[in-house]
Amino acid sequence: MTDARLASLSAALPALRLLTEPAELEHYGRDWTRRWQPAPLAIALPESVEEVQAVVRWAKANAVAVVPSGGRTGLSGGAVAAKGELVVSLERMNKVLGFDAVDRTLTVQAGIPLQLAQEAAREHGLQYPVDFAARGSCSIGGNIATNAGGIRVVRYGNTREWVAGLKLVTGSGELLEVGRALVKNSSGYDLRHLAIASEGTLGIVVEATLRLTDPPPPTNVMLLALPSFDALMQVFAAFRARLQLQAFEFLTDVALKHVLAHGAQAPFAESHPFYVVTEFASDEASEAEALAAFEQCLEQGLVSDGVISASDAQAAQLWRLREGITESLARYVPYKNDVSVRISAMPAFLAETQALLGREYPQFEVVWFGHIGDGNLHINILKPEAMAQDAFVTGCERVTKLLAQVLQAHGGSISAEHGIGLVKKPYLGCTRSEAEIAVLRGIKTVLDPAGIMNPGKLFDP
Ligand code: FAD
Ligand code: MLT
Ligand code: ZN
Repeated sequence: MTDARLASLSAALPALRLLTEPAELEHYGRDWTRRWQPAPLAIALPESVEEVQAVVRWAKANAVAVVPSGGRTGLSGGAVAAKGELVVSLERMNKVLGFDAVDRTLTVQAGIPLQLAQEAAREHGLQYPVDFAARGSCSIGGNIATNAGGIRVVRYGNTREWVAGLKLVTGSGELLEVGRALVKNSSGYDLRHLAIASEGTLGIVVEATLRLTDPPPPTNVMLLALPSFDALMQVFAAFRARLQLQAFEFLTDVALKHVLAHGAQAPFAESHPFYVVTEFASDEASEAEALAAFEQCLEQGLVSDGVISASDAQAAQLWRLREGITESLARYVPYKNDVSVRISAMPAFLAETQALLGREYPQFEVVWFGHIGDGNLHINILKPEAMAQDAFVTGCERVTKLLAQVLQAHGGSISAEHGIGLVKKPYLGCTRSEAEIAVLRGIKTVLDPAGIMNPGKLFDP
């Protein structure tokens, strides 16, 4: 431990676990973007709220930037530490702290993986309904800091809907307990919502009290094949009119090609240009409605084929076709857009975006998929193996500027669910007005007066 700052941190907090080996710095200094070369000062692994507070107080006193770190499954560079920051990983703060059957809440340390929180809810006969493919690795703290969405937002909403209360260690090292898990509370600004989607720029979420709900009904999964992109929102309207949908997800044939190459099983004998994975209750009435919606779409030429799960194993197989996409694309280090518009604006936005990307990306493979039932589209551009990453990113940034203009015209967002981080910082202005960004900066100054919390993420200092 040669760095004088680290010697000072160790002297101030002798019990704090610190990692400084090059492989550890590399591991904890990057997220799923893999675009920046990790270069953190060190990794702190606190074990308690008090230890987190002490680390932050030390960082403030010594003007050391702090990067809060969960599972580092983030797709926007929010957890990247490439400028000598101290990474504060919550991975040792991963326990369930309590369950309240009357309030239907689960209190957890923020480092707990999403899947363990879901399992804890299930053990109590309830459900924590936020869900997506990174469930095994991402943390509740990271989910809160990004307001994570996932595959069941169409039914249950984003993480924001499920946070009844939380504890935040601010950039001053103060512990704020916000929310109190009250159902009703009209006592002024709701500070919970400042921490949600704050991307670690205001403080470190150390605990959360999550709302739980009734377990989901037994469900069926249906895979639909669509002949055209224009049909997509019409199929959504037809199914939503008849069913309470648990999920409505979309992928193209290009996305499917990559998942199949990654080991999934082909669903149809023939290939189709677009697909939808949808989920709904498997009771008799819902199944009849689903078949009626399918027949209606078939008659109107909106779908060309379909398959419905006959067992849990088949349902899992169909889900794999959608949930396996991100993993199957990882080796191409894709450039990711994660955009949203209101559902009503989706048809016009999709048409314009399809024309834009067709025109601007003749040289790259473009993979479309996403949570179409929420108005959220994922566009992944794949880096050709031989191309240098810098040149590839520069090419994609040029098109993202154009996409940001389309989003602005349709009242959309440059980040639906992954956060702004480093990746989308230049485009924040297409979603937030200058006046709004000034307020965001003001809020940061109050909660993080020394500017040590994840500086350079979301917006520049
Ligand atoms: P990290 O990547 O560690 O951090 C993300 C941000 O949160 C950073 O800014 C970090 O500083 C901050 N942060 C982390 N922990 C804390 C804390 N305790 N306090 C304050 N700030 C903190 N996202 C979706 O929304 N929907 C999806 O469907 C989805 N699918 C995915 C599928 C795959 C295969 C992968 C790899 C990712 C997917 N993601 C998805 C993205 C990612 O999993 C989410 O953004 C997730 O919420 C990040 O959690 P994390 O713990 O990994 O956070
Ligand atoms: C997903 O929905 O699978 C992830 O949010 C997306 C991604 O990899 O872009
Ligand atoms: Zn997603």
